[in-house]
Amino acid sequence: MATRTVTITDNVSGKQVECPVHEGQYGAPVIDLKNLYKELGMFTFDIGYASTAACRSAITYLDGEEGVLLHRGYPIEQLAEKSNFLEVSYLLVHGELPTTRQFDEWSHAIKMHGMTHEHLSRFYQGYRYDAHPMSVLAGVCAAVASYYHSQTDIYNPEDRMMTARRVIAKMPNLVSKIYRHQSGLPFVYPDNAREYVENFMYMMFSWPSEPYVPNPVALRAMNLLLILHADHEQNASTSTVRLAGSAETNPFACVAAGVSTLWGKAHGGANEAVIDMLKEIKDPKNIQKFVDRAKDKNDHARLMGFGHRVYKNYDPRAKIIRAACHDLLDEMHVDQPMFEIAMELERIALNDDYFISRKLYPNVDFYSGLIYQALNIPTSMFTPMFALARSSGWIAQWMEMLSDGDFRIGRPRQLYVGAQKRDYVPVAARK
Ligand code: SDX
Repeated sequence: MATRTVTITDNVSGKQVECPVHEGQYGAPVIDLKNLYKELGMFTFDIGYASTAACRSAITYLDGEEGVLLHRGYPIEQLAEKSNFLEVSYLLVHGELPTTRQFDEWSHAIKMHGMTHEHLSRFYQGYRYDAHPMSVLAGVCAAVASYYHSQTDIYNPEDRMMTARRVIAKMPNLVSKIYRHQSGLPFVYPDNAREYVENFMYMMFSWPSEPYVPNPVALRAMNLLLILHADHEQNASTSTVRLAGSAETNPFACVAAGVSTLWGKAHGGANEAVIDMLKEIKDPKNIQKFVDRAKDKNDHARLMGFGHRVYKNYDPRAKIIRAACHDLLDEMHVDQPMFEIAMELERIALNDDYFISRKLYPNVDFYSGLIYQALNIPTSMFTPMFALARSSGWIAQWMEMLSDGDFRIGRPRQLYVGAQKRDYVPVAARK
């Protein structure tokens, strides 16, 4: 079959460039523009990369129109119901679901890397007890890079796999220490007799003076949240990790860059912002007023947890979290008035033409904070939880990029709209 191409013509110069079109397994085909500048002397212009594919990837596929999310071909609904986070992290990194032996080996390897250098604990003392946890997490992730710098060859597949194990193994340790520091509690070493998510909750919530027995409902909810936040194709923080990695940066430093990007309210910070928004609304009678503010162009208020660059339908993760939230609050006999406000807010917004016409639906962050709250996780720790989960996706994407034959440093161009060339003016002559 003839190669599909797209021809771009400059109607001023008459120059043309014929660009090959590449088809993927699913989703929009892509126009290969590598000869555009050479042939036409032009760049593409796509603020926010809304129509730009920055890479090829086999890890995650999103269909924004249909609200579909696949990890290595497996629907998120099935992984959420049947898998666990450690198995999903294996799937993201290796590309296949593990056999029993492979999972046991993966689980053992992760456990063997769960400790951090004892000196790292001193980094936390440098932060105020009320420092924002994402600031701390970005700092300590960059600090971990210093322990694994000289001995990591990013071009060696075995070193990349070792790095993936280290990142996935150490994030629960790094995140739990933030909560312990914030709470004035002693740090807790991993207990390898416990499975991954239970070990994390043990490091977060155990008391030195009491045995720690996790609530199975909470354990199941935490596993679900981590699965749902594990990866999401080329979102802002993943794109940051890829761009930092393309400069051959230390992988833990790439993760630190991803943490910094995820912190933003427009991205992973939205889960914390949703709770702040629900607290501000406080009573269902205030909902319409807030919705009107979110629609008002002169008001910076946005409906946090609503809208998505890719999903122009319900975020499949939001559907799963909404149902889980309802069940969890019932099972844990938690009266969560904010859940009622959130559901009423969703109902009002989904019947309002402003949101309907813009295809704005609840995203993963709209309900996740309510579950974290029911698990007694402080609001400021919501985004570090997101980062813990997403670090498995970040490192899988980093590995994929480095093993891609077309790997090269990312360096976008620009449309220059600044001053024309001019000579230096001595200060005495300036007006
Ligand atoms: C995550 O990319 C990913 O995959 C991210 C993520 C992941 O797993 O990695 O899914 C996680 O980051 C989810 C998104 C969390 N953020 C929020 O919930 C913050 C609130 N939402 C938005 O700020 C916004 O919807 C974004 C940032 C999520 C998407 O922004 P876009 O794609 O740039 O959309 P846009 O700003 O161009 O909006 C289009 C229109 C605009 O109105 P008009 O100019 O057409 O009149 O919709 C409006 C926007 O003003 N709009 C909103 C809105 N979101 C968009 N209006 C009110 N409230 C909102 N939440």
